[in-house]
Amino acid sequence: MRVFFVGCFLVSSLFANSNFAQNIMIKAEAKDDAPTISRHIYGHFAEHLGRCIYGGFYVGENSKIPNTAGVRNDVVEALKEIKIPNLRWPGGCFADTYHWKDGIGPKKNRPSILNIWWGNVSEDNSFGTHEFLNMCELLETEPYLSANVGSGTAQEMADWIKYTTHPTGSSPMPILREKNGRKEPWKVKYWGVGNEAWGCGGNMRPEYYSDLYRRFATYTTDWNNSDGIYRIASGASSGDYNWTEVLMKNIPKNLIEAIALHHYSVIDWGAKGPAKDFSEEQYFEIMEEAWKMEELINKHVAIMDKYDPKKRVDLLVDEWGGWYEVEPGTNGAFLYQQNTMRDAMLAGVTLNIFNNHADRVKMANIAQAINVLQAVILTDEEKILLTPTYHVFKMYNVHHDAQLIPLFFDSPLYQYKNRVLPAVSASASKDKDGKVHFSVVNIDSKKAQTIEIDVNGLGLNKVTGEVLSSGKIQDHNTFDNPNKVFTKKYHEANMSDGKLSFTVPPFSVVVLEAKE
Ligand code: AHR
Repeated sequence: MRVFFVGCFLVSSLFANSNFAQNIMIKAEAKDDAPTISRHIYGHFAEHLGRCIYGGFYVGENSKIPNTAGVRNDVVEALKEIKIPNLRWPGGCFADTYHWKDGIGPKKNRPSILNIWWGNVSEDNSFGTHEFLNMCELLETEPYLSANVGSGTAQEMADWIKYTTHPTGSSPMPILREKNGRKEPWKVKYWGVGNEAWGCGGNMRPEYYSDLYRRFATYTTDWNNSDGIYRIASGASSGDYNWTEVLMKNIPKNLIEAIALHHYSVIDWGAKGPAKDFSEEQYFEIMEEAWKMEELINKHVAIMDKYDPKKRVDLLVDEWGGWYEVEPGTNGAFLYQQNTMRDAMLAGVTLNIFNNHADRVKMANIAQAINVLQAVILTDEEKILLTPTYHVFKMYNVHHDAQLIPLFFDSPLYQYKNRVLPAVSASASKDKDGKVHFSVVNIDSKKAQTIEIDVNGLGLNKVTGEVLSSGKIQDHNTFDNPNKVFTKKYHEANMSDGKLSFTVPPFSVVVLEAKE
């Protein structure tokens, strides 16, 4: 099975060839015109959902948990370590019920509302625009604000842009901002125009949403978008290609910078299966969902190419990740789940797919950062743990803003009963210092893969590496044993005669750094 990582994924040849050889030859072909892998592919998502914001990011200034202006110091340190490039907020579904003016000014005057999508819990709005944008500055990350289209107004979105980004004193909104304690504008480039408009964002048809989008987008800026606002249209759910088609056809290119896509790896929405005590079949099914991202991107991009051959509109996968049953004994609406080596495989494969589509995929946001779905961090009061997914993000941050090196190879197959998948996923890039990084994932639950990369012409001599591996696919970190799954130095890679050789253990991720 030949996997062309830049171009289309040949599903038909995958099933036509049942070659089980475990030795793989990869050809790395550096090209001057290869795209840069945007660091924003490594983005995150924080919604007012369960314990993502309250207890996760934010504990309030009076908490005994060490914090800066209410934001947990341990969380800031952990997220800076993985160089979090952007953070999407306040939802998700919550965004289309959120009226941002409820979350500004003195906290005692802020109204409490019901969070209708996520357990009907009371939301006291103590974490609002100032708290979020100041937190982004602390995290050294770029904010991505998702505006309310479903139950909001174009004026409300326009006011939010003025409140957050317009120069001091230039109109009533920046004057209000200053009155509330912030003189200088924040930098907010990314603006979502609604979320899941086909569902919780208003149950709209694409024809209706695209008209509404045009109206909202019109009032975000001036004739020439001189403020450089980056407007993101609410995109399709997984394989809803008609959604992308209608939006690409109906929205003028001067009103849109990006279109989104959401895809969750879920076995069955009615029977999602446990997050940690899953079977091999459930593991395989999540890997099928992970690989599906390749097909989804290819097909959505083909539609985009038809209307936008010059690739002016970006594709952002602004929600992705594994979705399982909640942990026993926790609130079903809070979406709190554990995170295992299966999630590390899912993250490794997905991020490689995004890297390899860097020409069109310019941002992605794993759902969600803390305590919700495929989180990189879990907290329990003052305790914190970093999940296997966190470690993959840390290993892969070498690809941030590096130039893609396309890889070509025939992957052996991972077989479960009569179903097969490519066992190996890989991507590579060259950073600004000339160092080349390879991230290789072996999803096979039993077989190791011996890999040889032809690096002739890349001028590489030395190699070092890291591996994320564990005894069982179900292995995960707990508050009592937070380092059960952890990265180790990897010393088994060998470079000679323009060939880089190494072995990737079953269900493991290896990242190699090669230099002159
Ligand atoms: O991430 C959880 C929810 O999944 C989001 O609120 C919504 O956009 C999606 O359906």
